[in-house]
Amino acid sequence: MIKILYKKALKPLLFKTDPEFIHDAFVKMGEHIGYTKAGRALISSMYGYKGRDISKTVDGITYKTPVSLAAGFDYNGQLAHILDCLSFGGEEIGSVTARPCEGNPKPRLKRMVKSKSLVVWKGLKNQGVDRIINRLKSVEKPEGFIWGISIAKTNDSEASTFEGGVDDYHYSLKRLVEENLGDFYTINISCPNVYGGENFAEASRLRGLFEKLSTVQHNKPIYAKMPINTEWEEFNDMLTVLDEFGVHGVVIGNLNKNYADSDFPEEAPEEYRGGLSGKPCFEQSNTLIRKTRQYWGHRFTIIGCGGILSAEAAMTKLDAGADLLQLITGMIFEGPHLMKDICEAYAKRHKQETVPQEKVKAI
Ligand SMILES: Cc1cc2nc3c(=O)[nH]c(=O)nc-3n(C[C@H](O)[C@H](O)[C@H](O)COP(=O)(O)O)c2cc1C
Repeated sequence: MIKILYKKALKPLLFKTDPEFIHDAFVKMGEHIGYTKAGRALISSMYGYKGRDISKTVDGITYKTPVSLAAGFDYNGQLAHILDCLSFGGEEIGSVTARPCEGNPKPRLKRMVKSKSLVVWKGLKNQGVDRIINRLKSVEKPEGFIWGISIAKTNDSEASTFEGGVDDYHYSLKRLVEENLGDFYTINISCPNVYGGENFAEASRLRGLFEKLSTVQHNKPIYAKMPINTEWEEFNDMLTVLDEFGVHGVVIGNLNKNYADSDFPEEAPEEYRGGLSGKPCFEQSNTLIRKTRQYWGHRFTIIGCGGILSAEAAMTKLDAGADLLQLITGMIFEGPHLMKDICEAYAKRHKQETVPQEKVKAI
């Protein structure tokens, strides 16, 4: 019923309105609903997973469900106290940057409806790490809900040099660690929409970045958000650098820069720049997940992200080798019940996979 209502009534209305306006309105609404007990209970009754225990522990962190909200939706941490009601096990807040960032000039978000994708040219709009820290300190963290924090470099000329960029990432990480905020940190090296381009998605610059970041002492898992338009050899060189610095895992991956990977590339208006989310990311990220798992075994935690538009697609990502999942576009195109559907499919899959105890003893 809820699914039909979303698809037949709400979505057609929402999709007639400017996507950034709708995004901001939903974030504001979610923020307010999250402050009331009744609001949380209502959302949870509609979209909360209530099946058997499907919690999963990865790098010492226990997620109640394997699906989290990817970076870029809750960029100021305004939903950090409500997303557990939508069957999310965690979220990546941000990407946060050292200084507040207005983002790129509008319009910077566009739907490609037939392609099941968004053209994203946000340019890392966020209120800056210090203000976001204050917000997160003021809200009650839902029990068992995981706050990852995605860190990027400010989208301005100061951070566009190598040293400026490194200092920017370093400042945010240092501040978060000082405040002991965040269960894990993801270093977003692959945002295609910033001043100076994605200039840390290359082995030697990546090494320079992690040389500095590794001077910040903490005991939380650290991940890197990877590009998906990179040849395997270059991608693998980056993994080698991440291995050197003891990075725990990778989020595979970010937006797709190749418009030809969409089903209907003509939907992308010429005046737009930016990366594609959703379906055009699916195969590309699956291939890199598969290769990373084959080549590196279980050295890296893999968080599979990109084009999860159904429970089946989520299972395909796990089959490719992902330990955990993240999404945004599927929730927008399919509706907020998607995460619950994924949890139910995951519960079923694990029931089938579990070897009965009698059998274990017999072996
Ligand atoms: C509106 C929007 C903003 C995004 N902003 C960020 C960001 O700030 N940091 C980041 O690491 N990824 C960002 N992304 C990329 C997503 O985290 C994700 O990697 C990508 O959208 C693929 O997942 P999806 O197909 O489930 O949306 C953004 C995506 C969208 C749709």
